[in-house]
Amino acid sequence: MTTDLDSIVASAREAFGQAPTPAELENAKAQFIGKSGRITELMKGLAALAVDEKKSRGAAINQAKQAIEAALAERRQALADQELELQLKAEALDVSLPGRQREPGGLHPVMRTMERIEQIFASMGFDVADGPEVESDWHSFTSLNNPPNHPARSMQDTFYVDIQGDDGIPYNLRPHTSPMQVRYAHAHIKKYAGHAVMPEIRVIAPGRTYRVDSDATHSPMFHQCEGLWLGENVSFKDLKVVFTDFCRRFFESDDLQLRFRPSFFPFTEPSAEIDIQFRHGPLAGKWLEVAGSGQVHPQVVRNMGLDPEQFIGFAFGMGPDRLTMLRYGVNDLRLYFEGDIRFLKQFR
Ligand code: DAH
Repeated sequence: MTTDLDSIVASAREAFGQAPTPAELENAKAQFIGKSGRITELMKGLAALAVDEKKSRGAAINQAKQAIEAALAERRQALADQELELQLKAEALDVSLPGRQREPGGLHPVMRTMERIEQIFASMGFDVADGPEVESDWHSFTSLNNPPNHPARSMQDTFYVDIQGDDGIPYNLRPHTSPMQVRYAHAHIKKYAGHAVMPEIRVIAPGRTYRVDSDATHSPMFHQCEGLWLGENVSFKDLKVVFTDFCRRFFESDDLQLRFRPSFFPFTEPSAEIDIQFRHGPLAGKWLEVAGSGQVHPQVVRNMGLDPEQFIGFAFGMGPDRLTMLRYGVNDLRLYFEGDIRFLKQFR
């Protein structure tokens, strides 16, 4: 037989089952077991009953209440599960989606060459120095014994910037790394001021250089590496030994000859172009120019702040871009600067 209690429990189950959210479920709960819910009201009515009736009726009401609480707990759990499932679905990661890959990078071929040059010269006791790319007229030209009307100073050959130096002459984008000879010597003298002896100067200065020039073998921005060795008794013979050793180590070959071809530079006297020749391989037999060099001109030594009677030595300037072309067989300089990954990847 269905009692009033059975029907209350049934309608509670129905109400809970229809509650779509936890908040609405709590509202439904209040109707049955809240402060003035239907079960609560029945409990209050017990007081009016006789003792034995109170017992059996009380037990029945309690049972109904427990049934309602069980139904409530079940529905709470169901709603919580539902919510979790929705959340998991919303936040799901599609692990089958291909990832975004980062390819390993690599050094630019010219930077590889620069590092090789630095390593080799460092092993011969040369310091490595860095200097400004925007340079004064005095450092780029005058200090290096260039006469005032030297063509290298012209706007057709050298880039100028819109800033004037103290001498009223605009700064230039350095057309060579040679100004580093004088800059380094000045820093060296300052560093050892007050010392009993000043060590000799042995340095290379690699870096970017600029000229008004652009074709398959010339780029308006290119690289040079300057070298300078000044001491009490440093001669052309030392230049030959150092540079020959450098070339053999750079190209990893003893199968290579050097030629010092007389030339002219304002900052050296005598001066020579250095050519190399491979005996084997694709370039065999051709003389290839790799550097300018010479004995540092006395006037340049004076401009460094040194006495040419005390300091003598050699300087050279080479082109890492060219060396890179020879080492890897690159035939167009512009490939270096176009950023084509297919080209650059080969050096990774
Ligand atoms: N500065 C010269 C150039 O850019 C290269 C050079 C030649 C540097 C002879 C030197 C040197 O130090 O002794 O063409």
